[in-house]
Amino acid sequence: MRRKTLVLVLALGAALALACAAYAGNGGFAPETPHSPNASRINDSYKWIAIFTGAIFVLVEGSLLWFVFRYRRRGRPRTAEGPQIHAHTRLELIWTVIPVLILAAIASFIFYKLPGIKDVPRAQAEGGPLQIRIDAHQFYWQFTYPNGTVSVDELHASVNKVVRVDIYSSDVDHSWWIPELGGKFDAIPGQRTHTWFKADQIGTYSGRCGEFCGVFHAEMRARVVIESQDEYEAWVRHQGPLSLGRNEWMGVCAKCHGPQGEGDYGPQISNNSLLIQTQGLEQLLRNGRGKMPPVARGWNDEQFQALEKYLDAVVYKGQRSGG
Ligand code: CUA
Repeated sequence: MRRKTLVLVLALGAALALACAAYAGNGGFAPETPHSPNASRINDSYKWIAIFTGAIFVLVEGSLLWFVFRYRRRGRPRTAEGPQIHAHTRLELIWTVIPVLILAAIASFIFYKLPGIKDVPRAQAEGGPLQIRIDAHQFYWQFTYPNGTVSVDELHASVNKVVRVDIYSSDVDHSWWIPELGGKFDAIPGQRTHTWFKADQIGTYSGRCGEFCGVFHAEMRARVVIESQDEYEAWVRHQGPLSLGRNEWMGVCAKCHGPQGEGDYGPQISNNSLLIQTQGLEQLLRNGRGKMPPVARGWNDEQFQALEKYLDAVVYKGQRSGG
């Protein structure tokens, strides 16, 4: 009797410890709190599956412990054989039928939730979803808004509005992933994938590239800034070249060359006169050279001009010919 109590106490202790870890929120087993309908459906599916896997875990580990204690050797000789049991039809039926039912329950639930995760909701009263283009590059995210405004690593959108994002890659496979706003979507060279979100709260949601894509994969972070409709519209209309240039510098160049161009993984560039040579710079950024990837593949003139303006005004510390 005392042993049984001990086992029970140990098992309960373990269960409590695991429950604490599971409820520790974003640092534990629990997923992020969803802030978009598709993300919350993914979350529901996770919980539904967790009920079964949790019950099976407790059942399997519980019986394991039970058998270890109940059928231990108890001083019998090592050569003693236990009773030989062959077949138990009812038990075999039970352990076949129950898993089939569990799989059916999981599959039905997932297929019921899937359209709400995958399909972009139909047009709203105010003229359909906001459409934003995402280009994944080694090693940054570029966003293009309907009016042609561009931003890097930071996506702006308005609250309670369906946002459809079309995802492209300029080089290798990346994966768009903002956990609070939905699941991962691959960015595949030569293909377009798409997903959507509808953020229910103003704030900043962070995410990262979900697929190993090279040395600076870990720097491919993304922020989604959700603002009121007015703030979003003001932002998207008034992105000047200097702010785009700064955005490009921080997202595209500084990751390798340091925030002031002082050199980091990439060489020091703040004194390199190439920074103020329009044509040479464009060539290098479009085509890459040596270890430097063609970071600006697909850029338009405005993007180049913005970066050049910023390099000239802020980054370049070298000599200038003709004063
Ligand atoms: Cu892009 Cu990892």
